[in-house]
Amino acid sequence: MSQKKTGSTRSKSKKSFKNKELNKRPKAPLKKAAGRKTAGKSMPRVVVRRSAIHGRGVFAVSAIARGERILEYTGERISHEEADRRYGDLHENSSHTMLFAANDEIVIDATKRGGPARWINHSCSPNCEADEVDGRVFISAARAIRPGQELLYDYNLVLEERHTPKLKREHPCHCGARNCRGTLLGKKR
Ligand SMILES: C[S@@+](CC[C@H](N)C(=O)[O-])C[C@H]1O[C@@H](n2cnc3c(N)ncnc32)[C@H](O)[C@@H]1O
Ligand SMILES: [Zn+2]
Repeated sequence: MSQKKTGSTRSKSKKSFKNKELNKRPKAPLKKAAGRKTAGKSMPRVVVRRSAIHGRGVFAVSAIARGERILEYTGERISHEEADRRYGDLHENSSHTMLFAANDEIVIDATKRGGPARWINHSCSPNCEADEVDGRVFISAARAIRPGQELLYDYNLVLEERHTPKLKREHPCHCGARNCRGTLLGKKR
C-alpha cells in the first residue's frame, strides 16, 4: 500500500501523479479545518494551510496521541487500470500525485471527492503512517504530535522502472529531515 504514481508497482504506499491533472489539482480552501463532531459542535483536529515543504499541508490544531487515527484518505475508488488511463500521460511530466494505492485492486483518486488527507506531505522522518483496512486507508499518528506540527508520512513511492539517480532527482524531497533521502521514491523490493 502506498501513494501511487501511474505505472508504479503495487507494493507499499503509492502516491504518484505524473500528469496535467497535477497541474490542475483541485482548489482546497485554505485553513479549512477537519475534525470530530461532538454534540453538534465541530472539534477541529487538523487544518489545511501553506506548508514550507510543498504547497499545502495538513497541520495539527490540538495535540494528537501516538497511535490515534486522524483522517481517512478519501476520494473516488477506481482500479489501477483506470488510474493509468486517467493519469498515465500527465504523470509522465510531473512528480505530483493525488493517487493512493490501497491494495492491488483499489486506487483512491483524491482529485475527485478527496478530503483533507490528500494535502498531507511526505517526510523521510514521518510522524504519521498510512494503514489499509479492508481497502480503506487511514492516517494515524506514528508518534505524539504537538499543536502546530505538520502531519507527514513516508510516501515510499515505488515506480515500475528502475530507480535511477535521474528518476530520483525527478521526484525530489524537500522534507528537510536530517535523514532525508532526497527523493520521494522508496526502496524497490
Ligand atoms: C497529494 S500532494 C500533497 C499536497 C501538496 N503539498 C499540494 O499542495 O498539492 C502530493 C504531492 O506533493 C508534493 N510533495 C509532497 N511532499 C513533498 C516533499 N517532501 N518534497 C517535495 N514535494 C512534496 C509532491 O509533488 C507530491 O506528489
Ligand atoms: Zn526527505
